[in-house]
Amino acid sequence: MNLADLNKVALAMVTPGKGILAADESSGTIKKRFDAIKVESTEENRRDYREMLFRSTEAMSKYVSGVILYDETIWQNAKDGTPLVKLIEQSGAIPGIKVDEGTQALPQCPGELVTVGLDKLAERLKKYYERGARFAKWRAVIDIGSGIPTMTAISVNAHALARYAALCQAAQIVPIVEPEVLMDGDHDIDRCYDVTQRVLNKTFQELRVQRVELEGMVLKPNMAISGKKCAKQASVDEVAEKTVRLLKACVPAAVPGIAFLSGGQSDEEATAHLDAMNRIGNLPWKLTFSYGRALQAAPQKAWSGKAENVAAGQRAFTHRARMNALASKGEWETGLEKKVA
Ligand code: 13P
Repeated sequence: MNLADLNKVALAMVTPGKGILAADESSGTIKKRFDAIKVESTEENRRDYREMLFRSTEAMSKYVSGVILYDETIWQNAKDGTPLVKLIEQSGAIPGIKVDEGTQALPQCPGELVTVGLDKLAERLKKYYERGARFAKWRAVIDIGSGIPTMTAISVNAHALARYAALCQAAQIVPIVEPEVLMDGDHDIDRCYDVTQRVLNKTFQELRVQRVELEGMVLKPNMAISGKKCAKQASVDEVAEKTVRLLKACVPAAVPGIAFLSGGQSDEEATAHLDAMNRIGNLPWKLTFSYGRALQAAPQKAWSGKAENVAAGQRAFTHRARMNALASKGEWETGLEKKVA
């Protein structure tokens, strides 16, 4: 492992003014997104949609530091035969790859999940590196509910995240470590805070045990936020203040950067929260975005599967990317939302 090179890539991924496009929806998830815009989820449509994003020259060259791809996409070519991964490289962004293989029910823990995909991961990482991937992603999912999460679910998921991260670094690939505490329940922000604290502490404990080099990784956490069904929704300032306090308590300063998931927040909420955190300032790590839904909902709607809407889809994507890029520097304002370029 060359740690200096891993650190360079990790720092590039969290460059202020840029963030990560999470375009790594599994076949099941992208089908749900396409269903919502009444587009059939064929291989060609998935390719056309993602090609539209990667050919958004302004967004990709100015506001996107890296793109997380799904296995199908990293091997796909654009309509003109150019590998999609080359389009990303040509824009100046770094290609990345989702390497987990989804979740399975966790034995003895009803309602809880463990992320799988460690088998043969070393061999897969080698092929992805040859294809151009310089970072990877593995997502663990922790749900909040009555009696959950159990410490069992937190431990096995943290263990798998650290196993994955160590294998990535051995393959000269920067691991994005993503322990996602879901915001689907009716819990309040303080319960989210407590659970996320346990999850992050366990995750960093495992990363240390398995000798993962913190300078060569990026953390992708959820924010401390109210559950979607909670009657009392925390304000933007409360989310920002509590998330920063939580991260300061749990994330060593050796980690170069933190790139948040959006997790079901509205587009503008995800931007406002990131912006408010960066306005607090004086942070030991860079804070940016690694959004899936909060970057893609608008372009998906504008595109709706029609070739004549590609320019509109690209405009919508560029706008969201620019808003989040400003938020990564604490320079976003709600008034800018109206001024679509
Ligand atoms: P969302 O921003 O839609 O939560 O997706 C980010 C991601 O990569 C989840 O694994």
